[in-house]
Amino acid sequence: MNQSLFGLPKVELHVHLEGTIRREILEKIGRRNNTLPVKETGAFLERIYRSGGDLSSFLRRFAAVCHHLRSPIDFYLAARDYGKQLSRQGVLYAEIHLSVQIFTRRGIPLQPILSAVDEAFEEAYRESGLMLRLILDGVRQWGPGSMLELVEMAEGTRRWKVVGIGLGGDENSFPAESFREAFRAARDRGWKTTVHAGEAGGPDSVRDAVEILKVDRIGHGVRAAGDPSVLDLLARCQIPIDLCPTSQRETGAVAKNDIYPLRTFLDRGIPVTIGSDDPALFQTDLTNELSWLQGHCGLSPEDLVRVERNGLEAIFCEPEVRRRLGAIFHAGIRSWQRNRTD
Ligand code: HPA
Ligand code: ZN
Repeated sequence: MNQSLFGLPKVELHVHLEGTIRREILEKIGRRNNTLPVKETGAFLERIYRSGGDLSSFLRRFAAVCHHLRSPIDFYLAARDYGKQLSRQGVLYAEIHLSVQIFTRRGIPLQPILSAVDEAFEEAYRESGLMLRLILDGVRQWGPGSMLELVEMAEGTRRWKVVGIGLGGDENSFPAESFREAFRAARDRGWKTTVHAGEAGGPDSVRDAVEILKVDRIGHGVRAAGDPSVLDLLARCQIPIDLCPTSQRETGAVAKNDIYPLRTFLDRGIPVTIGSDDPALFQTDLTNELSWLQGHCGLSPEDLVRVERNGLEAIFCEPEVRRRLGAIFHAGIRSWQRNRTD
């Protein structure tokens, strides 16, 4: 790993627990649950972890991972392993999306899942000081009724380190307008919110996320680069966008031959954060995303500090944690700036 990136205090705000599960861990989970085929397990797993295809085919691979998660311990194992991956990269804080309804719809109760994840989060904190929080993610193609159910379901979950409500899935299935009420309900109940927008959808989807859903942060948002008026909106409202370069290039949100538009956002003063989205499924991690941006978009040491500081400012967690994290973060940045070898 690039040593100078390791020492940089990092914040990961766009990642899905289901998409962090490495092949070895999924195999362990699937064997315990008897959900893997007896024959040709290797080839079966290969299909899940082989990248390529558009957002729909990615979402099918994501669903294939979810199929094997059946009991609370599966979520514990996933969160524990991912916590270790983050600590190894020098990440201080992460907000992890979890599409809980995929599991509750199958009859797995919510509380034991959250409690298992919480236990893994506590262990990560005790072991390395890494702070982990959850965002409960809705599934866009399941429509507004399901999103309202998620908001209901989220009541009383703060004690399990849930800090926000999000919406992922197939961006082209339902327009933002249909979720207006659900996002208002989430806000009214004091939740911070985020939505995947400007990934499979165009710049208007990003505009709608700001104007109709009034989110605090946007997942991806990258297609806003195609419309200066939407860029202006993001800059004026200072809405953070989580750019996830590998994911966006793999799903075709950004064509592989195009110049990745990081600078378009940075130069307009839009608060960009960097995420890995589904690191195991896209064969990446946060450090690799930053390293790729250094190589392909001229991400300078000053830009690195800026995107991590943007991340710190965009976190959803409670003020006390934010204060504690801020002190550690700023000391880490000073030390990184003193010790940088490049
Ligand atoms: N987009 C939409 N839904 C998702 C994604 C994504 O990139 N990753 C996991 N769920
Ligand atoms: Zn995502």
